[in-house]
Amino acid sequence: MTSTILVTGGTGTLGSHVVPLLLEAGCKVRVLSRHGRESREGVEYVACDLLKGEGIEAAVDGAEIVLHLAGGPKGDDVATRNLVRAAARAGVRHLVYISVIGADKVPVGWLRSKLAAEQAVAESGVPWTTLRAAQFHNLVLTVAEKTAKLPVIPVPGGLRFQPVDSRDVAARLVELTLGEPVGLVPDLAGPKVYGMGDLARGYLRARGKRRLMMPVRIPGKAGRAYRAGENLSLDGATLGRRTWEDFLAERVS
Ligand SMILES: NC(=O)c1ccc[n+]([C@@H]2O[C@H](COP(=O)([O-])OP(=O)(O)OC[C@H]3O[C@@H](n4cnc5c(N)ncnc54)[C@H](OP(=O)(O)O)[C@@H]3O)[C@@H](O)[C@H]2O)c1
Repeated sequence: MTSTILVTGGTGTLGSHVVPLLLEAGCKVRVLSRHGRESREGVEYVACDLLKGEGIEAAVDGAEIVLHLAGGPKGDDVATRNLVRAAARAGVRHLVYISVIGADKVPVGWLRSKLAAEQAVAESGVPWTTLRAAQFHNLVLTVAEKTAKLPVIPVPGGLRFQPVDSRDVAARLVELTLGEPVGLVPDLAGPKVYGMGDLARGYLRARGKRRLMMPVRIPGKAGRAYRAGENLSLDGATLGRRTWEDFLAERVS
């Protein structure tokens, strides 16, 4: 394929696995993020803040496909609306979006903004594909590293996760990006379900550390939704290959 694919957030955790796969598939890639980089063979980098909107038109110009990975703790709805407006005007033929499992069910701010972003994609008028993925191992590792610095690790009771490897997500997204637009596809979760305590214990074991753990309770509607497993995809999800233990063996041991 020789047409340009715009990858927003192509410098992030997920994007840095996606871009080489697209290059291997013979695509020309343009990467959009707030911090520009020097362009190199096959990849053009453009600096643009999707929240502010300036420069989006130029970034989208000439791209047949947009793979939208840019995201942060806040404002994914606003950033996505800005992007899809420009994509529709530029005549993009396929818009691919990465969302999070539970975006439609767990009442917390950042998931509400992911759901609003999904809606902006679906209503953009551009043919689209959206994949919801579970939490990446990298994110679980960041949380495990931070909480292991405390003398006692707080473990919210009843919370379970299906962490997935960002390389498995990248491979699935590339497959979807190079295929036809198909709307919302089955979720992508990791191959195993873990309690918070299991994830923390796995990390401590890999690091050769010991810590006390203290059960805590997440209050309110969000706590109830998590305890009910609304952040999980137990039926019908596509499962990634790599487990949390595989990831720890590579990254920590
Ligand atoms: N992490 C997870 O567990 C997880 C799970 C499911 C889905 N997702 C979704 O997957 C996507 C990628 O996640 P990730 O973990 O790879 O994130 P990441 O490592 O934090 O990377 C975010 C990327 O977005 C860019 N970016 C952030 N804000 C931007 C803005 N306002 N305008 C333009 N570019 C911006 C960043 O570059 P600059 O800083 O240079 O702008 C970077 O390239 C996100 O949409 C996230 O919601 C993540």
